[in-house]
Amino acid sequence: MSVTELKNLDTIVSLAKARSFIYQSSEIYGGLGAVYDYGPLGTELKRNIRDFWWKAMTQYHDNIVGLDASIFMHPKVWEASGHVDGFNDPMIDDKQSNKRYRADMLVEGHIAKLRSKDKADEADELQELLDTAGSRKGLCEDLHELIMDNEIRAPESGAFEWTDVRQFNLMFKTQFGATSSGDDGDAVYLRPETAQGIFVNFKNVMDTARQKVPFGIAQVGKAFRNEVVARQFVFRMREFEQMEMQYFVEPGTDAEEYEKWLNKRLEWHKALGIREHKLRTHPHPEDKLAHYAASAADIEYEYPIGWQEVEGIHNRTDFDLTQHHEYSGKKLEYYDQKKQKRYTPYVIETSIGLDRAVMMVLCDAYREEEVDGDTRTVLKLNPKIAPTKVGIFPLIKKDKLQDLAHKIEHDLREDFNVLYDESGSIGKRYRRQDEAGTPFCITVDFDGVESEGEDTVTIRYRDDMTQDRVPVSRLREAINDKMNSWQPE
Ligand code: GAP
Repeated sequence: MSVTELKNLDTIVSLAKARSFIYQSSEIYGGLGAVYDYGPLGTELKRNIRDFWWKAMTQYHDNIVGLDASIFMHPKVWEASGHVDGFNDPMIDDKQSNKRYRADMLVEGHIAKLRSKDKADEADELQELLDTAGSRKGLCEDLHELIMDNEIRAPESGAFEWTDVRQFNLMFKTQFGATSSGDDGDAVYLRPETAQGIFVNFKNVMDTARQKVPFGIAQVGKAFRNEVVARQFVFRMREFEQMEMQYFVEPGTDAEEYEKWLNKRLEWHKALGIREHKLRTHPHPEDKLAHYAASAADIEYEYPIGWQEVEGIHNRTDFDLTQHHEYSGKKLEYYDQKKQKRYTPYVIETSIGLDRAVMMVLCDAYREEEVDGDTRTVLKLNPKIAPTKVGIFPLIKKDKLQDLAHKIEHDLREDFNVLYDESGSIGKRYRRQDEAGTPFCITVDFDGVESEGEDTVTIRYRDDMTQDRVPVSRLREAINDKMNSWQPE
């Protein structure tokens, strides 16, 4: 059987819409850039991935507890965290089209073009200049010079009419209350990361949930960034969801904990069902580390748009707790009674974008297979995260078959997300569920209800399309067995 994997992002964008996974936001009004809505199947898939993460982090660790902090936070939080001054991208505008671009990405695009034209030396030279941008005149000036010197044109209009490069803050700003003066002093922000909600609650959790270092706080929630380059489906969104965990450790143990968490998180991606050869870790070189980080690495997935970050693991040192101590005046320290020692804990952070995880799961599961001269599209999702677990079909619309199918639907509903379907040929019903990633389909036929003894039905397995005949009383067990032994192919 010939099998084709996903080749381009458009295929998954179309399937995501057609099968009710992901829609563009406000589509009837022409859409809103880089904002997306999850449809019925997408909502289930996203929830299952979220639960899979939550369980791995909290249920399997007795020293990691949950938090649900608010999206709005005191404006001082973002001064302390460095986001007000430093959460910027260097942007440049094309005067002809009024389109805005990230200056460093324009240069990166040009480097890729040079490489594709076998101009490796020129590409290396420009890469070197890009890597050291900011060390000559200033970041904006250096990037502007690279664009001008290399005559880099606007990707869409082809024009060479650039403005200066300016820093553009990615936080969305709004105001509280009816009496706002419109001054910056009233500004509140939509959080650009969930992590700060954890840092400012460090002491609350430690004091009230009786946690001793090392311990972790896990949180899932929305984050907002006014991304300018936002053209890659749910990979880069303006409103997205993060799953973050901050693990507070004694200074000196941080390097070891960092390695431990990097490995643990990579294992989680494999357990989610992602094929190993599509995953890799990418440590950040020392000269590229964020100002707060002692070490950092990305877990990357090979999307149809190339190898890209899905998750970041960071050793954030004591930067955040020290900053919040300084800005709030409240001590954020830990007293180790056994060692009679007081210190500000270091933080190992694991931060994964839920939407990027959904996109990774969809891309990784997608296959087109030639079956009997026909092409079947199938999502080979890990059954544990599949939106619908079991499709239940009477072979034809006859009372006897429909009654048993409804009874099975009723019985299995408590344990699994099930779907009853009696419309169209059985082949069409299987194909619909293949595209939705439903791992098991139960068909009720006359052979099973009219034979001697207990009623039997067939279970058809999505991945290899084989079928087993199973007594109705064994269905739950048969599904659970297959679900627990599933491996990605
Ligand atoms: N607290 C650390 C932090 O926020 P980050 O690397 O900026 O670090 C962490 O973001 C993760 O959040 C990324 O690995 C990515 O999966 C996700 N993420 C970041 N920006 C995103 C965006 N605009 N759209 C979707 N996901 C995004």
